[in-house]
Amino acid sequence: VQFTRLLPERATVDASDLLAALSASRAPAQRPYAIANFVASADGHIATQGRSGALSDPGDRALFHMLREHADAVLAGTNTLAVESYGRMIKSEEARARRLAAGRSAEPLACVISASGVIPLGIPLFAEPEAHIVLFSPTAPEPGTSSARIDFVQTDPHAGSPLREALRTLRVDFDVRTLLFEGGPTLMRSLLTEGLLDELFLTLAPRLTGGGEPSLIAPPPLPELLGLRLRWLLHREDSLYARYAIPHA
Ligand SMILES: NC(=O)c1ccc[n+]([C@@H]2O[C@H](COP(=O)([O-])OP(=O)(O)OC[C@H]3O[C@@H](n4cnc5c(N)ncnc54)[C@H](OP(=O)(O)O)[C@@H]3O)[C@@H](O)[C@H]2O)c1
Repeated sequence: VQFTRLLPERATVDASDLLAALSASRAPAQRPYAIANFVASADGHIATQGRSGALSDPGDRALFHMLREHADAVLAGTNTLAVESYGRMIKSEEARARRLAAGRSAEPLACVISASGVIPLGIPLFAEPEAHIVLFSPTAPEPGTSSARIDFVQTDPHAGSPLREALRTLRVDFDVRTLLFEGGPTLMRSLLTEGLLDELFLTLAPRLTGGGEPSLIAPPPLPELLGLRLRWLLHREDSLYARYAIPHA
């Protein structure tokens, strides 16, 4: 899939060129380098009738798969996993072969974080024998409830948000350098307020949805406005694809 890059300088680029442009990201010592990826309507909503699929397009899907191919691990909130019925992380045999040829695992780790311990075990991901899941939860799933390989990491239900410690574990124990975060807005809010995100990939879909649908970040408002720096802007058909850096104070 080809895009017109509008910024920093005009060029025609392919999704695979963009993958090469990502590999220079550097992970801090205590957590992975973390990239969020969302699609939003032109009026700033990330779902219609509870799901995001109608906002997506071939350019958005190419970026989505390119980011998954690049990532060491993928994180999504438990509601997103359930609503979007997550399955295995990389379905394309070619993409799996490219990762193996580069000395990586065939697929990124799938990360699941829950404060409540209510895990959507019925989604296809947990029935996938080749999936490797790292589950952060106060309670372990019943044995035999999943065909996937699960590494269970017990979290302390009284210790507040387990996110920072979970990301430290991913970095230190699982050697995750690049973490792709795929939503939704509730987990997005936690990651942002805890200063754990480095970039935002945002597809601006040429659609208007009207009120009532969630936006990128769940309420309440962030304690202060968060400025972003534009790293690139791509264009394809009527959609815009922005890549922002999230500066840390
Ligand atoms: N357009 C897009 O790009 C896009 C992307 C993703 C999702 N979406 C949409 O977003 C919606 C789902 O988003 P959502 O906001 O309802 O849910 P979500 O962010 O996917 O998941 C929320 C859950 O994540 C866990 N969580 C969040 N913060 C946590 C923390 N600090 N520590 C531990 N666990 C934490 C909690 O799980 P427990 O309750 O188990 O504790 C929480 O209930 C769907 O409509 C989906 O279609 C859109």
